[in-house]
Amino acid sequence: MNTKIFVIISLAVVSTAGMLYADSCTPDCTGKNDGEKVPDPKNCTNYYFCKDEIPSDHALPCDAGMIFDNGDCAPGPACTPICEVTVCPITCNGSYSMISDPFDCSKYYICTAGQVNGPLTCPDDKPYFNGENCVKDKEVCCAVSCTPYCGPGIVEAPDPVDCTKYYMCLEVGIPNEDYHFPCSSGEVFDFQTGRCSSDASCITLCTGSTSNVKSTTTTTTTKTTTTTTSFDCANSLICTGEGFFPQCHFSCQPGYFECTGAGAQGIYHECTGDLVFNTDPLYAYCVLPGNCPFHPSK
Ligand SMILES: *[C@@H]1O[C@H](CO)[C@@H](O)[C@H](O)[C@H]1NC(C)=O
Ligand SMILES: *[C@@H]1O[C@H](CO)[C@@H](O)[C@H](O)[C@H]1NC(C)=O
Repeated sequence: MNTKIFVIISLAVVSTAGMLYADSCTPDCTGKNDGEKVPDPKNCTNYYFCKDEIPSDHALPCDAGMIFDNGDCAPGPACTPICEVTVCPITCNGSYSMISDPFDCSKYYICTAGQVNGPLTCPDDKPYFNGENCVKDKEVCCAVSCTPYCGPGIVEAPDPVDCTKYYMCLEVGIPNEDYHFPCSSGEVFDFQTGRCSSDASCITLCTGSTSNVKSTTTTTTTKTTTTTTSFDCANSLICTGEGFFPQCHFSCQPGYFECTGAGAQGIYHECTGDLVFNTDPLYAYCVLPGNCPFHPSK
């Protein structure tokens, strides 16, 4: 594949579906005088001091029984923090879980044991991925929070601002700074598999901006041209497009080809374990043999 051309094309396409927003989880001293206090968005019993419109390095706690309200600590009942982290499933938390593409709401990935398959593209009539399905409603599109978050079943969560670090997850929620670790030297954290890796690319999930993010958007979902061949399984494949294609058109077998783009030589893989590759190109990934052939409902 000609990487240079691919990169240029990718950068030229501005994704309309994938957007990232700065979130409400960082203390904000904008327009505040020196010494003024602002709420700790993550903990409503704490506050920050402002100096030169910059919050103090650490949050300070109100006295016991007090909450931070309206610019100062005051006696108050239990309170909820301002910061709401959008939980955007982008890290695999088990086989057969699906993850969103943080930069393109029309794309998603399927996690199988130790492997991330995709991207798969939602169909035109249901263009947005909601974490489980492709749907019509654009509201489901999620923006990755700039605050780290441990979703259910996640063992290591990405650091949204530093691709060389991660958080160990002991419970669901915003992880503690004590569990913030660097990957080994030369490795970056693969936010999809949830592990440090020497071949992952460094992707900063938090852009801290409200503008559209440039992303790698491919324009077509290609259907494999199942020309009337008398044979079932191919030994090699010249790709008709980007994605994953079954080795066998009619029988459910473990083999499949990974394609980086039209004209490329397909790279042969086999599904892990007992899994077989589904023969319906509309649902191009490894499935349990009992579920094959699987035809997605339209
Ligand atoms: C909020 O901060 C206080 C004091 O720093 C701490 O005791 C409490 O556990 C924190 N609450 C949460 C929900 O993190
Ligand atoms: C994986 O994540 C999804 C969505 O966040 C959640 O519904 C599911 O329970 C998680 N799985 C496990 C094993 O925790």
